[in-house]
Amino acid sequence: MKEVKPTILVTGGAGYIGSHAVNALCRSGYSVIVLDNLSYGHPEIVKDILKVELIVGDTRDRTLLDQIFATHNIAAVMHFAAFIAVGESVIEPAKYYHNNVVGTLTLLEAMLAAQVNKIVFSSTCAIYGMPKEIPMTETHPKDPLSPYAATKNMVEQILADFDQAYGLKSVAFRYFNASGADPSGQLGEDHDPETHLIPLTLLAALGKRSSLKIFGTDYDTPDGTAIRDYIHVCDLADAHVLGLEYLLKGENSDVFNLGNGNGFSVREVIETAEKVTGINIPVIEAERRAGDAPILIGSSEKAKRILGWNPQYADLAMIINHAWNWHQKRHGS
Ligand SMILES: NC(=O)c1ccc[n+]([C@@H]2O[C@H](COP(=O)([O-])OP(=O)(O)OC[C@H]3O[C@@H](n4cnc5c(N)ncnc54)[C@H](O)[C@@H]3O)[C@@H](O)[C@H]2O)c1
Repeated sequence: MKEVKPTILVTGGAGYIGSHAVNALCRSGYSVIVLDNLSYGHPEIVKDILKVELIVGDTRDRTLLDQIFATHNIAAVMHFAAFIAVGESVIEPAKYYHNNVVGTLTLLEAMLAAQVNKIVFSSTCAIYGMPKEIPMTETHPKDPLSPYAATKNMVEQILADFDQAYGLKSVAFRYFNASGADPSGQLGEDHDPETHLIPLTLLAALGKRSSLKIFGTDYDTPDGTAIRDYIHVCDLADAHVLGLEYLLKGENSDVFNLGNGNGFSVREVIETAEKVTGINIPVIEAERRAGDAPILIGSSEKAKRILGWNPQYADLAMIINHAWNWHQKRHGS
């Protein structure tokens, strides 16, 4: 007999990473409900492509959350809903603390009231601050350098305290740079404003932006540009299903890095994008940005060992190729 899998509430499921996680959950046989306030999400992706229920609403709306938990038999939550722009968080910290911390606290309280005690949370490698060792492991000291990173660190602390006091079990994933797109070309990254390197590069290739800025060409790296760890969004999504199943089995709360384990420089990304697209991408060399580390690379050995995570798409050309398929469909004229 076919196993009936439980229903998962996915906050922020109309966004980039959340939509890929919804896809992975559906493929694994879970029922999914998306809660998204559409501040940045794309409703047509949820309704027309993923074909799951979309509740348009906010994680800070306790009445709505109580209603959702009362009317659906939800076994666990995957929580992607947050504001994500590091630079904006420095200028408008209140917006970030309110949405990312108050929104999560409201969600957690509603979960406790409804006796839903399992959550998978989107954290970030930004909570580590400047790297003291490469690759960075989960035991690396924490030093969040922006209000955005601080919100994620605070939520990790709240999750640890809620486990201790109320038995709420969590898996927090600290992502490195989410990138790529579903190989089908039907899902992908579409942030407005866009701040991530690969989509910015591909938008420049499509002529949607006049050029691409390289921030810093004098780092102590082989080609002078900053090195980052790009993790394919489908590998991230698969890890979320494994993290969920780990919690559903009754395991304890934990935190895991999710990265590629390899670093690629800004120039390597641009050169690879030029090869994949066959288009010359105009660049402007600019000063370093304050707070940018020369190299960020994560170790994901813990997720591989404990969750059995087996990433499929570590190759940069493949990551960019998948992103390019999506960008051409989404933005190509
Ligand atoms: N993109 C990355 O490289 C990266 C890296 C580390 C961590 N993260 C984390 O992963 C998560 C998803 O990131 P993303 O790139 O998919 O961002 P995204 O902006 O594409 O998705 C976030 C979604 O959450 C929704 N949302 C925001 N606030 C909400 C609220 N209060 N109530 C309901 N919905 C709300 C938005 O409308 C959007 O659809 C975020 O928590 C982010 O901090 C992302």
